[in-house]
Amino acid sequence: MVEVKHIIKSFDGRVVLNDINAVFEDGKTNLIIGRSGSGKTVLIKNIIGLMLPDSGAILYDGRDLTAMTKKETKHLRREMGMLFQGSALFDSMTVLENVMFPLDMFSKDSSKERRSRAEFCLERVNLQDAGHLFPSEISGGMMKRAAIARAIALQPKYLFCDEPNSGLDPKTSLIIDDLIHDITTDYNMTTIINTHDMNSVMNIGDNIIFIKEGNMEWRGHKDEIMTSTNKALNDFIFASDLFRKVKEVEMHQEEG
Ligand SMILES: Nc1ncnc2c1ncn2[C@@H]1O[C@H](COP(=O)(O)OP(=O)(O)OP(=O)(O)O)[C@@H](O)[C@H]1O
Ligand SMILES: [Mg+2]
Repeated sequence: MVEVKHIIKSFDGRVVLNDINAVFEDGKTNLIIGRSGSGKTVLIKNIIGLMLPDSGAILYDGRDLTAMTKKETKHLRREMGMLFQGSALFDSMTVLENVMFPLDMFSKDSSKERRSRAEFCLERVNLQDAGHLFPSEISGGMMKRAAIARAIALQPKYLFCDEPNSGLDPKTSLIIDDLIHDITTDYNMTTIINTHDMNSVMNIGDNIIFIKEGNMEWRGHKDEIMTSTNKALNDFIFASDLFRKVKEVEMHQEEG
């Protein structure tokens, strides 16, 4: 479990995160949603310690990241897997070598064990036949899956994904969403995902935090989103065509 308590972050006197409080649960895909510029990436960067908040605490199963020494932070990082915008694979390495990279860096296992772990991870994301290929030889969706395999190579307790579906078509996005959701449940990870994709929200929104202009406006489950009366949230949903239609049908049903 990751808890965010009273996080405030400003740049040059401009408040970008205004007293954010949230609980991200184990075994769930926790979503941070909001419009472009609302503060999602800044929040995730604060949570993983890439940025320091002006004030507030970030608790990893009770351990406060903001109070840690450099060494302690480094230690905690080993428990985190990250999947950032773009897949950020190394072009000069094969898919298998990419997945082995964190293991080669941090694992004390033998080279045979590391290879077998990497192969297992590739199999988990259904890329067992692509290990020998280079990133330039595979599709965007495959790159994303390879990046997921690399992110879970060290068996992280916490998984962070910033816009995991950027640049993917809707169908491939669904496959990636489902994959992230499945590995989260299988390995009981605390997964935190930034997105403004309503399809993802309705597909894997186990626990959703909605932020608007740096303020936390709403939290809940995907099943509660359509019946929410929060104006800011409804405006956000209405911006997506499909959901405007669904919501309009529901409202008519309620009226009639
Ligand atoms: N290093 C920085 N210095 C100054 N301002 C920043 C910095 N990083 C982000 N900001 C500002 O903070 C605000 C929130 O940005 P952020 O990147 O978190 O938005 P976002 O919700 O992730 O948007 P998107 O959906 O487009 O990725 C923006 O106004 C941005 O300009
Ligand atoms: Mg962002």
